[in-house]
Amino acid sequence: MSLLEVTALEAGYDDALILRGVTLHAEADEIVAVIGPNGAGKSTLLKAVYGLVTHKGGTVSFDGTNVTGMRADRLTRRGLNFVPQTDNVFASLTVADNVQMGSLGLPKGERKDAVAHVHALLPILGERSRQRAGTLSGGQRKLVAIARALVTRPKLLLLDEPSAGLSPQAMDLVFDQLVEINELGIGIVMVEQNARRALALAARGYVLDGGRNAIDGPGAELLNDPKVAELYLGGAGTTASSSTSTNTPSGMNPAT
Ligand SMILES: Nc1ncnc2c1ncn2[C@@H]1O[C@H](COP(=O)(O)OP(=O)(O)OP(=O)(O)O)[C@@H](O)[C@H]1O
Ligand SMILES: [Mg+2]
Repeated sequence: MSLLEVTALEAGYDDALILRGVTLHAEADEIVAVIGPNGAGKSTLLKAVYGLVTHKGGTVSFDGTNVTGMRADRLTRRGLNFVPQTDNVFASLTVADNVQMGSLGLPKGERKDAVAHVHALLPILGERSRQRAGTLSGGQRKLVAIARALVTRPKLLLLDEPSAGLSPQAMDLVFDQLVEINELGIGIVMVEQNARRALALAARGYVLDGGRNAIDGPGAELLNDPKVAELYLGGAGTTASSSTSTNTPSGMNPAT
């Protein structure tokens, strides 16, 4: 059984059914990319897994337990955490205080070690520890948000568009850090508009369309699949590692 197993998940908002049966799995040693056009239900998928939207069908299992519909704070305690696309740092607090906030769900005796561990992982936090998060660059802010999630000692992180709004340079910083985090054995499921870049890193990719699975497979395979390229990557192209290859159809924004 996989660390995260999502099976035929249906979810939505009030009466609206948005996810119409999505299936996905992820392991602790994997980066998994979820891509697809605007409105496909990518963010809703992450929120549904993390217990933030109304569950309407299907199952989520995490680390061997059926956690379908479980509250977010309980999932965090079990080792699953979520970094939303926006509103993910406290702008008026310092970097150190933001990270500290993330540790509050841990037993008191473990907080200091957990914070120190994350500072060792992301040295940039130490350099900026007294700076207010609102005055950081976009990439740095994103890393603080990821740090806040990491401090809860997750086994798997759900990341909604970690590269959105970042310059190519900041994007490199964030993606490099994600690879390092994953190398420590922390699984990552990331939704990305920057689909080529995400697929290039991903063990597996899932294309969502209309709230359903459209295509999935190894990241490299999807990158080279002409149908995926035509429908979801903005035409043919093999510049998988180029941070400028962000032109995608269906209103996907270049994340620069
Ligand atoms: N809070 C909400 N209340 C009602 N409908 C919502 C809400 N959030 C999203 N939706 C609807 O759910 C559908 C899927 O939205 P979602 O945000 O999951 O798409 P997405 O794939 O993440 O798109 P994007 O690439 O633009 O971020 C859209 O039709 C959207 O209008
Ligand atoms: Mg979204």
